[in-house]
Amino acid sequence: MTKNRYWQLDARPEGEDFSSALSMAAEQLAPLEDGEIRLKTRFLSMDAGTRMWMNSREDGYQPPIPLGSKMAGQALGRVTESRDDRFPVGALVRVFGQWADYSTVRPDDAWAVLLDDDIDDERQHFGALGLNGWTALYGVKDILGIKEGETLVVSAAAGATGSLACQIGRNLGANVVGIAGGPDKCRHVVENLGARQCIDYRNSDVAAELAKLDGGIDAYFENVGGKILDAVLQNMALHGRIAVCGMIANYASDEPTPGPSNYDQVLMRRLRIEGFLLPDVPERGPEYYDTMKRWYQEGKITLPFDVTEGLENVLTAYARMMTGKNTGKVLVDLGTENG
Ligand SMILES: NC(=O)c1ccc[n+]([C@@H]2O[C@H](COP(=O)([O-])OP(=O)(O)OC[C@H]3O[C@@H](n4cnc5c(N)ncnc54)[C@H](OP(=O)(O)O)[C@@H]3O)[C@@H](O)[C@H]2O)c1
Repeated sequence: MTKNRYWQLDARPEGEDFSSALSMAAEQLAPLEDGEIRLKTRFLSMDAGTRMWMNSREDGYQPPIPLGSKMAGQALGRVTESRDDRFPVGALVRVFGQWADYSTVRPDDAWAVLLDDDIDDERQHFGALGLNGWTALYGVKDILGIKEGETLVVSAAAGATGSLACQIGRNLGANVVGIAGGPDKCRHVVENLGARQCIDYRNSDVAAELAKLDGGIDAYFENVGGKILDAVLQNMALHGRIAVCGMIANYASDEPTPGPSNYDQVLMRRLRIEGFLLPDVPERGPEYYDTMKRWYQEGKITLPFDVTEGLENVLTAYARMMTGKNTGKVLVDLGTENG
């Protein structure tokens, strides 16, 4: 029998106090049922959206994770056992699995994807080639329909999804303006991610800085909500578009948060606002992957990693992302023993 350590959700977290709400447990793995596959985790992806699943709100895009369950999250690793011929033992796969040594899933329920083995850094399957990249492409190209020469503003611009949205905007010919927390992040967004400019929202007046943009904001890739959304709304161009990818400023709340005070600008400036969720378009995956892989191999897309080692340190990694200590993609490396 094989031992499996995993993280379990015991209570709904208060703010960023994750250690009071999640605990580590262990089990002996049961034999697979027909149709299941099992992979040994090499990397876990920390994704901001999972914070919403820890809450009790029933009106999210996904029901709350029941208390007492294993914490759900993206895992990347090799198949160790399989009762689905499409995913043979030894194959490299990415799934929506569990924060655990092993993820046991039904491939079609877990959006399991067989991964190319010839990528120079397999972590990029959680980076430029992963779901953050597909999300950024879906948002910038398909939802915003960005055109050459337009001004694209991206919030959380130094995080995983935002970093990729900035570079995609640059690749499609937009004038990209990032918004990120702190001077180091802002320098990175301009020097490495192709933004013309980056506004440090922790140390400057975002609305005043956005007001200096010639012609206003044509398109906004929204990752944050809250005060930043208000600052953006009052600086949108006429007929501007907003793609709502995420609203991380509100994720710790169990209650709906008050709407933007500048909401009337939607009418005044005739704006279009559209929320979007990558799992709605799984059929677009191969196309998004091909584009991102081409750009990655041409050196037109990159993503640094913020890596924490060891399953026992998952909560440290998670808190780094939720409190903005990361630049790029937050990963947990379970080590080559698990590889
Ligand atoms: N719609 C979809 O299908 C989809 C898919 C993937 C991700 N997303 C969304 O994309 C967004 C980014 O997620 P990610 O997983 O890539 O995480 P990430 O951007 O790598 O990390 C989160 C970042 O959010 C920023 N942040 C945290 N609290 C903030 C606040 N109160 N105000 C402003 N910024 C704050 C922090 O950067 P700073 O230091 O700059 O504050 C932090 O680095 C999330 O909203 C997530 O839900 C949506």
